[in-house]
Amino acid sequence: MEGGKVLVRLNRYLSLCGVASRRKADELILQGRVKVNGLVVKEFGWRIDPDKDVVEVDGKEVKGQRFRYVILYKPCCYLTTLGKDKEGKKTIQELIKDIPERLYPAGRLDYNAEGLLLFTNDGELAHRIMHPRYKLPKTYLVWVEGKVSEKTIKDMAKGLNLEDGFAKPDSVKLVKHEKDKSLLEVVFHEGRKHIVKRFISHFGHRVLRLKRIAIGPIKLGPLKPGQWRDLKEEEVKTLRKLLKMEEKVRKMEEK
Ligand code: URA
Repeated sequence: MEGGKVLVRLNRYLSLCGVASRRKADELILQGRVKVNGLVVKEFGWRIDPDKDVVEVDGKEVKGQRFRYVILYKPCCYLTTLGKDKEGKKTIQELIKDIPERLYPAGRLDYNAEGLLLFTNDGELAHRIMHPRYKLPKTYLVWVEGKVSEKTIKDMAKGLNLEDGFAKPDSVKLVKHEKDKSLLEVVFHEGRKHIVKRFISHFGHRVLRLKRIAIGPIKLGPLKPGQWRDLKEEEVKTLRKLLKMEEKVRKMEEK
């Protein structure tokens, strides 16, 4: 604070404006591409007054852009890719094409998996959603071949070694049996590739269908396949709090 005003570090301001991630913003600053009030500034920690100072990147003024947070029900048989697929497979890009902001998915779902994908231009939040360090649980409904026994559920809960290291779900429950299929609810807070399928296959049950129904407190809810909606302010607040982001903002601004 200076004279009652909140000053913001230049790199943070650039990332808040959606210009670049904090690391990329540092690069832009080092490369001399960022000006404050007409002068090149090469210090990441340079503090600016967003209401008064004029910030430019490559000669173009940067204006405060608001972050956007959107959730999509990715249907089965869509690639989690922005842009076109060379082989002509459908991609999630087609489903969010009406959103003008450049949003990125925080995590991915396999081509044949479905359910909740969160998109945002808030790089720091996306990073924290995906990083196992922040332990944000992702909840999956998994239909598998065969009758999964209670003993197997107990063994699953203990975790096991996969080819790329130990994997242990935060929780695993048998929801129901149906003829020769079982429905499980599995929670993992990490996002290694095909983690759920690889984990479950180790117990001799082939995954038939995989649907992510929640990312932390954010639920897929009544969205239909292919539909999206903006997160409510309360949802964003809860998510940021869980990911310890409010605290970080305050600390940076107090320094
Ligand atoms: N685990 C998988 O195996 N696939 C997904 O799409 C997500 C988690």
